[in-house]
Amino acid sequence: MSTTKIGWIGLGTMGNPMSQQLIKANYNVTVYNRTKEKEAAIKAQGATTAPTPSALIQQTDVIIIMVSDDKAIKDIFYGDDGLLDAKTSGKVIINMSTVSPAISKEVGVKCLDQGNHYLDAPVSGSVKQAQEGSLVVMVGGDVTAFEQVKPVLEKLGKLAIRIGDSGAGNVAKLAINTLLGIAAQGLAEAVILARNNGIDPGDLTTLINNSALGSAFGKIKGDAIVNDNYKAAFALKLIAKDLRLAKDIGLSTPLGETVYQTFQQAEVEYGNEDIIAIIKQVDHK
Ligand SMILES: NC(=O)c1ccc[n+]([C@@H]2O[C@H](COP(=O)([O-])OP(=O)(O)OC[C@H]3O[C@@H](n4cnc5c(N)ncnc54)[C@H](OP(=O)(O)O)[C@@H]3O)[C@@H](O)[C@H]2O)c1
Repeated sequence: MSTTKIGWIGLGTMGNPMSQQLIKANYNVTVYNRTKEKEAAIKAQGATTAPTPSALIQQTDVIIIMVSDDKAIKDIFYGDDGLLDAKTSGKVIINMSTVSPAISKEVGVKCLDQGNHYLDAPVSGSVKQAQEGSLVVMVGGDVTAFEQVKPVLEKLGKLAIRIGDSGAGNVAKLAINTLLGIAAQGLAEAVILARNNGIDPGDLTTLINNSALGSAFGKIKGDAIVNDNYKAAFALKLIAKDLRLAKDIGLSTPLGETVYQTFQQAEVEYGNEDIIAIIKQVDHK
């Protein structure tokens, strides 16, 4: 068993399989989730639990956070019994959630004042990659802190690289998710055009997947369209959130503007379905 004690906050769609990777890699893992029922599965696999973020940071060395958005991060750091309530030092706090660069810079400074390091380390990939430990991790923050936790990040991802100072990981992630939104809407529109002209969607996605445009994303989401399966692997409301964050840092290019608008409108009806439910939104037009 590794001597590094991991504290894990957030056991949602991603946090659950990601934290399981660390148990499989023989780390000692302590978890905290706002909704306690979600802790049962990982507890059964050997994790212990902490009642609050403050208790969790005191018991562990490296704290990993995987929650929804900026508001969740504020609650976890600034809330009653939050991370910043604890009198601790020498810890590395890694925020793998997709959040704004601004909140990373803000809490990063507070962590330093507390005596701890903060890294933003969002991920590219979804549930399948989380289950396989093959995510792509992009990190912003202190070089030494990054080198210290790189072995842990490499259990979660096939690639973990530091790309700049605090917030840099978040900026890269928002750029990638802008492309993701464009890819999802693009795939949906291609299927609709083909279908409306008599081509079977399954045939079209087979052609795309065997062409130079083929990708893991196109394969998974093409299958989802063909099987009419819109259960969220990556909830549409989360990409709508990411496009708002991208707009906040300057997204204003033609495709960016279009995809931003489409996903904001789609969120109202399809927010809890998968990102590829965007096909239902653009099909209505
Ligand atoms: N799903 C994907 O494919 C994917 C891929 C890459 C990146 N991401 C990003 O990864 C992050 C997590 O995504 P996910 O799909 O795992 O989301 P999710 O299934 O909705 O899980 C969200 C987690 O955040 C917690 N949370 C939300 N608000 C909170 C608050 N105010 N205080 C404390 N905890 C709070 C939830 O706790 P409760 O259980 O109490 O609600 C839950 O543990 C997001 O930033 C997302 O954009 C997702």
